[in-house]
Amino acid sequence: MASRKPFVAGNWKLNGSLELLNEMANEINAVSGEDVDVALFVPALLVGECAKLGVKTGVQTVSEFEAGAYTGEIQASLAKDLGAEYALVGHSERRHIFGESDEVVADKFVMAQQQGLVPVLCVGETEQQREQNETESVISAQIDAVVRKLGVAGLKQSVIAYEPVWAIGTGKTASPEQAQQVHQFIRAKIASLDSEIAQRLLILYGGSVNEKNSSELFAQQDIDGGLIGGASLKTDAFISICESAKG
Ligand code: PGA
Repeated sequence: MASRKPFVAGNWKLNGSLELLNEMANEINAVSGEDVDVALFVPALLVGECAKLGVKTGVQTVSEFEAGAYTGEIQASLAKDLGAEYALVGHSERRHIFGESDEVVADKFVMAQQQGLVPVLCVGETEQQREQNETESVISAQIDAVVRKLGVAGLKQSVIAYEPVWAIGTGKTASPEQAQQVHQFIRAKIASLDSEIAQRLLILYGGSVNEKNSSELFAQQDIDGGLIGGASLKTDAFISICESAKG
């Protein structure tokens, strides 16, 4: 089995500050290394600063357009110039609050990759979809939208984050078994197209991960790290989550 290096990323959303970034940077640099990669999805205005501090970083969303008259959008190429390495695409808040469809998310994925950013594709079902047994079909559609545009090869330089919508910011984490089941489904689905890409692909879990539940989640075979919201705003909690991902 191809070995996968654990990856933990903090998603600050519309939170945090320059002060918090300065406070956390040294500790992140100390924990990030051979055993785990750590990155911060800070608000876009802090990406340049984050990169200067030596912390891997990315934007929380990106425009699907390369350039032009699109007031307020985040340009992938400029994020790259500022030192961003990643772009989240399809976070559930973007899908549900800002109405981004699978199609638009796939376009953003394409743009991020074209401009040299590693897209982190967020997928996940709502509580109602889970109750109606639609978890796998929803996630399949979210992944298929990307595969239709780029083929399975598009997933080579990418990361997937499974984030059940009902677990985000709610304190309700998926159990390690529930999460593993979906991660295994995702890897098997991609393996049916290309087994090598599937074996190498990092699949992160996100949704109310904290310093108490992270070890058990990260110990699952197909969980390669986490996307951390609330707990990434607390230095001690975030660092201990990063520690717990070390193989
Ligand atoms: P949470 O957020 O850890 O606060 O649930 C996760 C996310 O939205 O990426």
